[in-house]
Amino acid sequence: MVAPGFVFGLVLPLLLRADASADVGFRFASYIDNYMVLQKEPAGAVIWGYGVSGATVTVTLCQDQETIMKKVTSVKAHSNSWMVVLDPVKPGGPYEVMAQQILGRKNFTLRIHDVLFGDVWLCSGQSNMQMTVSQIFNATSELSNTAAYQSVRILSVSLTQAQQELEDLAKVDLQWSKPTLENLGHGNFTYMSALCWLFGRYLHDTLRYPVGLISSSWAGTPIEAWSSERSLKACGVPRQGFMPSDLETGPSEYSVLWNAMIHPFHNMTLKGVIWYQGESNVNFNRDLYNCTFPALIEDWRQTFHDGSQGQTERFFPFGFVQEKQEFHASVESAGAPMRPLCSSAADEIVENYCSNSQQTAILRQLPRLEWLLVAFLPQRFSYLHTCLVQPQMMGFPRSVGIKQQTLAMSLTQGCPALSWL
Ligand SMILES: *[C@@H]1O[C@H](CO)[C@@H](O)[C@H](O)[C@H]1NC(C)=O
Ligand SMILES: *[C@@H]1O[C@H](CO)[C@@H](O)[C@H](O)[C@H]1NC(C)=O
Ligand SMILES: *[C@@H]1O[C@H](CO)[C@@H](O)[C@H](O)[C@H]1NC(C)=O
Ligand SMILES: *[C@@H]1O[C@H](CO)[C@@H](O)[C@H](O)[C@H]1NC(C)=O
Ligand SMILES: *[C@@H]1O[C@H](CO)[C@@H](O)[C@H](O)[C@H]1NC(C)=O
Repeated sequence: MVAPGFVFGLVLPLLLRADASADVGFRFASYIDNYMVLQKEPAGAVIWGYGVSGATVTVTLCQDQETIMKKVTSVKAHSNSWMVVLDPVKPGGPYEVMAQQILGRKNFTLRIHDVLFGDVWLCSGQSNMQMTVSQIFNATSELSNTAAYQSVRILSVSLTQAQQELEDLAKVDLQWSKPTLENLGHGNFTYMSALCWLFGRYLHDTLRYPVGLISSSWAGTPIEAWSSERSLKACGVPRQGFMPSDLETGPSEYSVLWNAMIHPFHNMTLKGVIWYQGESNVNFNRDLYNCTFPALIEDWRQTFHDGSQGQTERFFPFGFVQEKQEFHASVESAGAPMRPLCSSAADEIVENYCSNSQQTAILRQLPRLEWLLVAFLPQRFSYLHTCLVQPQMMGFPRSVGIKQQTLAMSLTQGCPALSWL
């Protein structure tokens, strides 16, 4: 009773794409799998996959052998894909999701089990986001502290690039899983993202319902790699340039990570995104960051909203990390790309290093832009990989109902050890 996605996800590269030929098998999208979290009410979760063009597909949500709802659709020609939007479901679970494809007299059934409903967050950016739980202070105790978090489910996307927007992921490193020592601390810069995990864990402590975390990040990458062609064009970003800094260790080719690691999620219903990136733009298209960053937010919001048939909110919360500039004293300019990232909520606090009021004004116009972490301990562990100590949580309290104090305190425990620098 193993769904094909499970087999594909753990071991084999997912080779199927939207333009796959007509004999493509009946399957769920790569990240519709056992142990996943689907977005809870008031949104409707999207379930999609591939099948044989013209076939009828029935998706059934069951709990304890009882049918909760059924949705019927058919497989589209050309893309060989099918998609249904479930009715809104309250947080909780577990559920089983079944999909049946009927073509003539042939009847194929796929099943995934232990599916929960809650909030689904996408975590993206460069090394500060990719850094794993095994790399933080007190890693041993953080890694063993999983029993209470079995309904925080995690997925980690493989490092992949593509020249065109992919409909589905090419590969995942960690398919939807419950947190364990092994999959939270798999290795350095593999999975699971420490910031993503700590964020989700404290959401769960506060909200007391399931949380799904998707980590899709790559160290040493500029914003251009995570931006669609549309948003780069809107900002007049010059054609591919050479990345000058030694710090750029990941791919810098434009749009390749958007295409392979983010776009495949645009049909999924999500709660929001958290983002930690900027260092790789210190010496690369830095003066354009005040356009490329807001443009990325706008483009992701629009694309995710459209792709989920309006289920992902048009202005979903977008949280980002603001580094305190003095933290970067040794690399005078390193905080610069972050400096434009100022929001009204935090003005008093960031006055000192949020110097360009014109840039501030641009970001202020974006709705529901959330300030995730604005300040760090002045202690310098590393000029690049900041220590997540004593952050001031701004913004998120407004959108997800978390008390500022709670999250600020909790993230205190997530301080990267940084001995590898
Ligand atoms: C398809 O198979 C499932 C069980 O695997 C069954 O419940 C369903 O009735 C079948 N549908 C048709 C149309 O045969
Ligand atoms: C991973 O990083 C930690 C420090 O954060 C270091 O002690 C350990 O040796 C590294 N492991 C590997 C396999 O590189
Ligand atoms: C962005 O910053 C650059 C350099 O500081 C400036 O010339 C430009 O006017 C800014 N763009 C906007 C839209 O404010
Ligand atoms: C995903 O969304 C896009 C944009 O709305 C749409 O063209 C595509 O068909 C959707 N995918 C599926 C599987 O329905
Ligand atoms: C690590 O654990 C010790 C003992 O529980 C605690 O005192 C310390 O504050 C922790 N460090 C961090 C950075 O959380």
